[in-house]
Amino acid sequence: MVILGIETTCDETGAALVERAGGEERGRILSNVVLSQINEHAAFGGVVPEIAARAHVEALDHIIAKAMGEAGYSFSALDGIAAAAGPGLIGGLIVGLTMAKAVALVHNKPLIAVNHLEAHALTARLTDATPFPYCLFLASGGHTQILGVRGVGDYLRLGTTVDDAIGEAFDKTAKLLGLGYPGGPLVEKEAARGDPKRFLLPRPMAGRHDADFSLSGLKTALRLEAEKVAPLSDQDVADLCASFQQAVVDMAMDRLRKGLKLFRTHVGKPTALVCAGGVAANQAIRKVLHRIAFEVGTSLVAPAPALCTDNGAIIAWAGAERLALGLTDGLDAAPRARWPVEMTKPAGRVAARSHIPPS
Ligand code: KG4
Ligand code: ZN
Repeated sequence: MVILGIETTCDETGAALVERAGGEERGRILSNVVLSQINEHAAFGGVVPEIAARAHVEALDHIIAKAMGEAGYSFSALDGIAAAAGPGLIGGLIVGLTMAKAVALVHNKPLIAVNHLEAHALTARLTDATPFPYCLFLASGGHTQILGVRGVGDYLRLGTTVDDAIGEAFDKTAKLLGLGYPGGPLVEKEAARGDPKRFLLPRPMAGRHDADFSLSGLKTALRLEAEKVAPLSDQDVADLCASFQQAVVDMAMDRLRKGLKLFRTHVGKPTALVCAGGVAANQAIRKVLHRIAFEVGTSLVAPAPALCTDNGAIIAWAGAERLALGLTDGLDAAPRARWPVEMTKPAGRVAARSHIPPS
């Protein structure tokens, strides 16, 4: 089957065609066109929802035409139309989902309203045919979660952030230090020439029995340290970045160890530790993920950075996985700014717990 996937949840406009052969658990990307709006938001130090929605409206039909052209397909040859229906910024979601509905209606194709987090969760199957069950570490600008991926639509939330997402904390750190947007790569670059031990920053949540994250205390501690040494020299900035990144790395290590322990208890032995989201591009974080996977006797599946971040191919693949199970949506499917991935369970499946109850 060949699916068109549309992504408009945040600041990337994406469209892609992905093929899934019968019975296969690996896909083939026929085209994957992504237009980043970074330049339009950079002056504001973060994504402005209204600007994002307008930019999606202006770009989406060209991006879809390009994806169709590069793959050499016409709409009539497609098997389904998938769009990210949430979670995300509501303006962008409306643009992408409405476009998908229009194409599905005109060409009489099934519509699949995809949960964006589910798309990240299933990417390891598109790229590496990873069998269920596996443990996913999803860290982006909007999300920080550890999930047990037991099957399509069957996710166990093992840990989540109680405040900011990791990528958001990198972005805020960069903004505070005047580095620009998006902050992650800039902070990582500065950290490379800094001293990670110079500033003593907290390791939030360390030692707790759950696998949750918290970033806001770290952000405040960083601001207080920066204020103490202001005005900041280039070396101060590098040392602050290195100290911040080290605190995040230490927290990720502690939280993932707990997450994998919970996975063992509630799911079993993972076939892999999988990472997704823009933060997974960070080399220091990747190193820790390799180490933790090794510790628990599994391997790290890290899809190429272009597939870890937002794009249409991951939406198309999730659409294909759902369509293969006969899971489609009506033209009344609603965009959802909030949509926990645990709530994508298809009706009729045996209900299993979707999150670890607080102890
Ligand atoms: O997945 P993504 O492209 O978009 C969403 O947020 O959905 O992730 C972008 C986030 C940004 O917050 C960015 O600062 C962060 O990922 N990021 C990084 C790195 N590259 C991107 N964070 C840390 N280190 C990096 N190298
Ligand atoms: Zn994403």
